[in-house]
Amino acid sequence: MARQTGAMPRPASIVILTGAGISAESGVPTFRGPDGLWEGHRVEDVATPEAFARDPHTVLRFYDLRRAALATVEPNAAHRALARLDAEFEGELLLVTQNVDDLHDRAGSRRLLHMHGELKRSLCAACGESRPFEGDMLTNRSCRGCGASALRPDIVWFGEMPYEMDRIERALAGCDLFVSIGTSGAVYPAAGFVRTARACGAATLELNLEPSAGTAWFYAARHGPASVLVPAWVDEVLGG
Ligand code: APR
Repeated sequence: MARQTGAMPRPASIVILTGAGISAESGVPTFRGPDGLWEGHRVEDVATPEAFARDPHTVLRFYDLRRAALATVEPNAAHRALARLDAEFEGELLLVTQNVDDLHDRAGSRRLLHMHGELKRSLCAACGESRPFEGDMLTNRSCRGCGASALRPDIVWFGEMPYEMDRIERALAGCDLFVSIGTSGAVYPAAGFVRTARACGAATLELNLEPSAGTAWFYAARHGPASVLVPAWVDEVLGG
């Protein structure tokens, strides 16, 4: 397949998918890199409903530590560039992030969807309500809605359905450009978005430190740090 690396035609409707790689330069560990977040934790031990039922203390502490770490990191140039795109791009735009950090939010992205949930939200296993949450859940599990002591992290665990899949599928079907940034393409359904977009006639671009597992599905790919590639791409789309 011929690879493009040059500028692409000006899009009218863009869907962007981001993964842990866009937050790496902010100091948030990725999952499958050398300093991978799963190092020292088996995924099955912390990111599954079964793990939470078996050992809630370990799971709550794992997410409490990650939530507390958000106070020590800042959005980087890639997050800021996507926020600029959000503010200035007049076409349709949806930023779907797999990340549960709040860096896209703090950078100012508004047309944003957290498909795997958010560290700074809680979910009540009793009443099903999702609410903003700060601090440690290990010592505070009472739901401010129904009062039950039944809070869990509002994180989509392995085996659970990601949020707003209908909205994502509609956006993929209607976009003319799909851009994947900082994700390994290891986890579905996100890893399949490129194929959905391509089947609907969209151009597809990968911006990643290295070729992802799904790189062959992209018409164009640029490899390097997100803090360099993303601002340059946004400049292209906004016409410099
Ligand atoms: N700039 C761009 N890309 C980077 C950078 C960087 N500075 N640093 C790392 N990357 C790339 C890596 O090459 C890798 O392809 O980011 C990707 C990170 O991959 P993963 O660690 O697998 O993270 P992600 O793809 O977001 O994982 C998807 O898996 O564990 C679950 O729910 C979790 O949302 C997560 C999902």
